[in-house]
Amino acid sequence: MDRTLIILKPDCIHRNLIGRIISRFEDKGLKIIGLKMMVISHDLAHEHYAVHKGKPFYDGLIRFMTSGPVVVIALEGNNAITVSRDMMGATFGFKAQPGTIRGDFGVSSSFNLIHGSDSPEAARAELERFFSPKELLEYMPAAAGWVYDYSSGKPQ
Ligand code: RTP
Ligand code: MG
Repeated sequence: MDRTLIILKPDCIHRNLIGRIISRFEDKGLKIIGLKMMVISHDLAHEHYAVHKGKPFYDGLIRFMTSGPVVVIALEGNNAITVSRDMMGATFGFKAQPGTIRGDFGVSSSFNLIHGSDSPEAARAELERFFSPKELLEYMPAAAGWVYDYSSGKPQ
C-alpha cells in the first residue's frame, strides 16, 4: 500500500469545494489516514516547493499557498500516489481532462485547487513535513473487505 500527501489549496477552501474533492478520494476507495486544516507558513511553503525556487512563478506560488487555510490529507491505498495524481489531472485546469479534479473544477493557469506527491520519495518527505507520526492513524474501514479482495490474505 502506498501513502501520499494531498493538499487542498486556498482556492479550494474559498470556493467551498473541500467536501466534493475529498468525496472523490473516498469514492475511489483510498483511505484517509490523516486530515487537518492549517495555514502554511512561509518557511514551510519554501521547503515544500524548493524544487521550483528561481522559476518565474515561484514567488506567486508561495504567496498563493500561504494566502489562507489549506486542508492537508494523508491517503493510503493501492498505488495511491499515481492513482491520486491521475485523479488530479494536468497541472492547469484549462489543460486537464474532464473527469479529473483540475479538469472539472477550474480553468486557471495559476490556481489549481490541489497538490499531490509525485513520487514515493516525495510522498515520504511530504508526509513527514506535514504530519507527526501520531497524526497518521491505523484502522480498518468497515468497507475494506469490499474495496479489496482479501481472499488470498493480502488485499488485491
Ligand atoms: P503540485 O506540485 O502543486 O501538485 O502541482 P504539479 O506537480 O501539477 O505542478 P508543478 O510543476 O510541481 O508546479 C507546482 C505548482 O506551481 C504552480 N505553477 N504555476 N504559472 C505557472 O507557470 C505555474 N507553474 C506551476 C501551480 O500551483 C502548480 O501546482
Ligand atoms: Mg509538483
